[in-house]
Amino acid sequence: MSANRTSVHGQWSSRWIFILAATGSAVGLGNIWRFPYITAEHGGGAFVLIYLVCIVLVGLPIMMSEILLGRRGRRSPIHTMAALAEEEGHSKHWRLVGVMGVFAGFFILTFYSIVAGWTLAYMARAVSGVFADASAQQTGAIFNALVSDPERLLAWHTIFMIMTVSVVSRGIKQGLEQAVRYLMPALLLLLLLLVGYSMTTPGFAEALSYLFKPDFSQVGASTVLIALGQAFFSLSLGMGAIMTYGSYLSGSAHIPRTTVSIGIMDTSVALLAGLAIFPIMFSVGLHPHEGGPGLIFKILPIAFGQMAYGNVLAFIFFTLLMFAAWTSSLSILEPVTAWLVEKTGYSRLRAAISAGVVAWALGLGSLLSLNLWSEVTLFGMTFFDLMEHLSVNIMLPVGGLLIAVFAGWFMSRSATSAELGLGNGAYLAWKVATRFIAPAGVILILLQELFGFLG
Ligand code: TRP
Repeated sequence: MSANRTSVHGQWSSRWIFILAATGSAVGLGNIWRFPYITAEHGGGAFVLIYLVCIVLVGLPIMMSEILLGRRGRRSPIHTMAALAEEEGHSKHWRLVGVMGVFAGFFILTFYSIVAGWTLAYMARAVSGVFADASAQQTGAIFNALVSDPERLLAWHTIFMIMTVSVVSRGIKQGLEQAVRYLMPALLLLLLLLVGYSMTTPGFAEALSYLFKPDFSQVGASTVLIALGQAFFSLSLGMGAIMTYGSYLSGSAHIPRTTVSIGIMDTSVALLAGLAIFPIMFSVGLHPHEGGPGLIFKILPIAFGQMAYGNVLAFIFFTLLMFAAWTSSLSILEPVTAWLVEKTGYSRLRAAISAGVVAWALGLGSLLSLNLWSEVTLFGMTFFDLMEHLSVNIMLPVGGLLIAVFAGWFMSRSATSAELGLGNGAYLAWKVATRFIAPAGVILILLQELFGFLG
């Protein structure tokens, strides 16, 4: 049961479409690009286990909070936070959570669109067959040639932003729904195809034990914090993306069950991405540990280059990654677009283009910081690194913390329990997680980010 408001932007056709859209938001570069290399850097199986605990104890309760706030407020995050705070008799300044989310969204898009542009570029590279028998030096040179050329980056960045704006500008039913309806099944199919291929390679058994046999000797205190940060980014929490999607959810949909479905899908895709990537690398004698952030752009192509039909598989892989990035970027642009429509009365087309142009222009900073401006730094970081750090490591956790605190401590019991529709025991579990566990976890990450203690 929810408050009897409706969103001016419309509503998802079904609970299932909402799950697809939210999963589309969650599944992105975070799952396929970031999860494998972070896992490799932190000891494989033990990290995976800790990550799963973080998803369940911190990620899911916060996701439920975002969806419930969004559905109750039925507006973009800034207006939803203001309206709910007022309704519950608290300061309207809670709207600042939404304001920070808008900024975080722009910051994320600046680098997200650039990396998504790489995936477009790599689809073209795969087709051209340049990875055939390529050495590590050659794949490194291919990557460097791309990032050091502003014109090429500009072209891919622009194309990706146009793709994002063109979907968001069509609205919920004609835009977002149509995109996720086709892209998400295609993504899953491509991923299963790759995993199927990986199962036939000699490295599969090694990859299985690498991912699922915990070796706690590599785990330190900072591992937990990194796992928590990854859980946050991967589930799209902290900036109001899921809150916005929640504002289009039917009042009759069961939020906790829906959240669990999204969490299971997001986690499965991350694990499947590991199961697709690691066996291929083990099979040709490469260790994932060597990759770092360049893992899939520099190291994986070496493996593709040594396999039969490697260029086809590489094309499939980068297409998959592009689809995943696309459905995620939709959810980053949507909250700002919805807010502009509510605030200014712009048409959706005009709002989406305006937001897209701002994001595109900011992206030029990230783009140039990879080449012409690579020497220009602030706090020792290039523009690209600064945007990533500020948004992912600071703004999202702070946003998530405030959302949890607001939902857990400031919303009335009658409102939250009406939205969640849980029995007493389960409701209590949500409350404890939202009031105590999630905030404590986030505060720990933040202290770690700010002061770098625990190494
Ligand atoms: N979750 C996406 C990924 O894993 C990224 C993303 C999309 C995101 N929307 C977000 C992250 C909102 C934080 C907030 O790649």
